Amino acid sequence: MIPVLIPSLPETDAIVPYLRRIDQSHIYSNYGPLSRAFTETLCRFVSERADGAPVAATITGSGTTAIELALRYRIAGRKGRLCLMPAYTFVATAHAAVNVGLEPFFADVDPETLALTPAIAARALAAAGGDVAAVVVVSPYGAPIDVAAWEAFETAHGIPVVFDAAAATLNLHRVGAQPICVSLHATKALGIGEGGAILTTDTDLVAQTTAMTGFGFSASSRVSEVRGGNYRISEYAAAVGLAVFDGLEARIQQLRDASLAYVAGFERIGVRMQPGFGRDWLTMTITALFEPGTADAVTAGFDADGIQWRRWYGTGCQAHPAFATCRHDGLAGTAAAAASAIGVPFFPAITPAQIDAVCGSVERSLAAR
Ligand SMILES: Cc1ncc(COP(=O)(O)O)c(C=O)c1O
Repeated sequence: MIPVLIPSLPETDAIVPYLRRIDQSHIYSNYGPLSRAFTETLCRFVSERADGAPVAATITGSGTTAIELALRYRIAGRKGRLCLMPAYTFVATAHAAVNVGLEPFFADVDPETLALTPAIAARALAAAGGDVAAVVVVSPYGAPIDVAAWEAFETAHGIPVVFDAAAATLNLHRVGAQPICVSLHATKALGIGEGGAILTTDTDLVAQTTAMTGFGFSASSRVSEVRGGNYRISEYAAAVGLAVFDGLEARIQQLRDASLAYVAGFERIGVRMQPGFGRDWLTMTITALFEPGTADAVTAGFDADGIQWRRWYGTGCQAHPAFATCRHDGLAGTAAAAASAIGVPFFPAITPAQIDAVCGSVERSLAAR
C-alpha cells in the first residue's frame, strides 16, 4: 500500500534543546520566549519569500481559528450576515464563518485552477443580493494567491477580503494588508502539529487579533478591550515550530525533488496538475487533474494497485449536511473541479519508485479505457 500522506515533524532529538529552555524559564504559555521567537522566525521567513514587505503575524491554535479571528476583525462594525466563499474548499472555511456569526454563501470556482476568481466573486456578490459582510478567498491546496487582484476587488466592491491560504505558507509571493490565514497542522508543508497564523502588513490587525487570542487583553493589561478567547499556542508547540525552521531548507529541497519527479511523470503521460505546481510552488496535498469522465477509471486502478488517493475537498462544502441549506450561485465549476481533482500519494520521504508506481497505474488505467 502506498499511503496518500505520511505527516512528518522534527524528531525528538531536534526538539530537546528547545524543551530544555522551557525547563529553565518555567514559562509554558502566554506568549513566552519560544512563542515570540517562533513568531519572529515565521515573519522573517515569509517576508523574505514575499516581496520583502515587513510581515507581522498573529499565532493561533489552528488555521480555522486564524480565519475566525481575521474575519471577526474585518467585519467589526459592518453590516451583512453572509460570507462569500468558494464551495470547493476544506469544510473548515465554512465552520470558521459560522463561528463568527456569518452564513456561508457558496461561490463557484474555475475548474482549471480550482480557485475562486474576482470575476466569479463579483457575479456571486450580485446573486447574494447585497448582504455580504466579507469574502474568504481560498488557496486551493496551497496554490499562490493573486493578492494584487484581490486588493483591486476589495477597492472596487468595498467588501473586506480574508485569505484562507491554509496550505500556502511556503508559497506567499506577496503579503499586503489583507490578512492571509495559514494552517500549521501536521499535514502542511510547514506544520508544527496544531497551529495557525494570520500574516499581514497591518500592525493594527495583528495587535487586535493577538489580543483576541488571549481574552481580548491588550499587551499590558488584564482588561478585555475586545472580545476574544483562548486561541494561543503553548511554548511546547513553539519548541516544535523552532525545530521545524532548523530543518526547513532540507525539507523544502526534499519536497521540491519529489514534486518535480511527479511533474515529469505526469507530463510524460499527459496528465495535468495545478498550474505552476512543483516549479513555482510546493504543497503536501498533491492533486492531479483528470479529463472529464476519466477520474473514476484512475481511482479504480489505484484501488486495485494498493495506491491510496483522496478527494481532499470532497465534492464541496455544500455536500456536508451542516452546510446543505446555505445558498449558492450555481456550482457547475465546483462539480467539474471535484470530479477532476484527485489527491495522489505524497510525503517528504516518497521514493522515485513509488512515484513511478503511481504514474504507471494512471497510465495503465487511461490506456485501458
Ligand atoms: C483550505 C483549508 N482551510 C482551513 C483549514 C483548517 O486548518 P486547521 O486544520 O489548522 O484548523 C484547512 C486544513 O487542512 C484547509 O485545508
